[in-house]
Amino acid sequence: MLSSFQEILSRSSIFRDRNVLSPHYIPSTLPHREKEISAVMSVISPALKGEKPRSLFIYGKTGTGKTSCVKHVMERFEEMKNDTAKMCYVNCRIYNTRYRVFHKLMKDNLPDYAKTGYGFSFFYEKIIDLMNSNGANIIMVLDEVDMVKDLDDLVYTLTRANDDLKAGGISIVGISNKLSFKDRLDPRSKSTLYETEMVFPPYTSNQLRSILEQRVKLGFSEGAVDESAINLAAAMSAQDNGDARYALKLIMRAAEIVDEEGAGVVSEKHVNAARKSVDEDISIEAISTLPQHQQIVLYSIASLSMDGGRYSKLIENNENYLLSGEVYENYLRDAKNFKKDPRSSRWYREYLNELEMLGLINTVESGKGMRGHTRLIKLAYPPVKIKSIIEKNMLE
Ligand SMILES: Nc1ncnc2c1ncn2[C@@H]1O[C@H](COP(=O)(O)OP(=O)(O)O)[C@@H](O)[C@H]1O
Ligand SMILES: [Mg+2]
Repeated sequence: MLSSFQEILSRSSIFRDRNVLSPHYIPSTLPHREKEISAVMSVISPALKGEKPRSLFIYGKTGTGKTSCVKHVMERFEEMKNDTAKMCYVNCRIYNTRYRVFHKLMKDNLPDYAKTGYGFSFFYEKIIDLMNSNGANIIMVLDEVDMVKDLDDLVYTLTRANDDLKAGGISIVGISNKLSFKDRLDPRSKSTLYETEMVFPPYTSNQLRSILEQRVKLGFSEGAVDESAINLAAAMSAQDNGDARYALKLIMRAAEIVDEEGAGVVSEKHVNAARKSVDEDISIEAISTLPQHQQIVLYSIASLSMDGGRYSKLIENNENYLLSGEVYENYLRDAKNFKKDPRSSRWYREYLNELEMLGLINTVESGKGMRGHTRLIKLAYPPVKIKSIIEKNMLE
């Protein structure tokens, strides 16, 4: 056990610069995205001549470099030091309503007035006044734009702003990884948002390999990561949606495992172990996005697994399977404890199907030795961890 900061800090590590592997790091060049970067630049370039750019919509699966490329373009844009246009980045996961998006605009442009006590129309008037007085264009980057709850209202407001403005204009760069969300939009918002469209394709295994090589060179001491480990992480991530974030996570976690072991070179063995651990994290993250009743069912399964169900008393060596009926009884009680009206058993069976599809539980039909047929349920992850995540979600 390392018991002082000195000991912990002097512990040897194969990382040279951990930052380079963090999800927030943006490398100075983004291999295999040269074409996309140049296309984004040309769509927004009119702003540098004082003209209002067309709106742009970027679609691509998660980890295809959308955020990094747009941020890279923003850095180049700022280097141009022009005063005819400004780009504003909004992460709609956080700023997920029209009000919050405008609040972010205020923070970036008029920080003195960016108090949440002010109403929406106050923000709106201030932004219009500001733009009328300096005649500049604003390019709003709405990242994960599908998260905005009142998106039709937001888009409508931005369109109206362009009518109200005597000079300058507001253009939108929308980014999303949800393909179907377009259909939910009002036709008017759709035509505003989708003036120009662009798709970021998933990375291939070879592309992921060079992305990883770039990062490994920057982040690790020489020889710390075996080439076969990079190849394996690239191949796994190419199969899994061509997601560069996942590929980087695999290498990061594999290196952490080597560090914990004390020394060595990151090899295929570590990447395999990293995959298990990363996949577990991802499934656990997914729990927080589940509808409440599914979370409660999962909660009941977790608590029952900790206490040991009736089935485990009936049959030895049952691998901790639970009876569907006893889980439902627990669900009825747990739902009440969380102050929710429990759903019928028909819904309950649907929830089990959903949870199984997400890989959070496994179910089998009971075999011999049981009266009739019942479904047996087993949790795919450690119950303590799952229980505490759901408790936190439900009590928020
Ligand atoms: N072409 C690339 N070169 C280097 N790193 C990349 C590239 N594309 C993505 N990444 C890295 O992968 C991770 C995910 O990229 P990101 O831009 O956040 O994807 P998205 O926004 O499409 O989900 C980030 O850590 C980013 O630095
Ligand atoms: Mg992104």
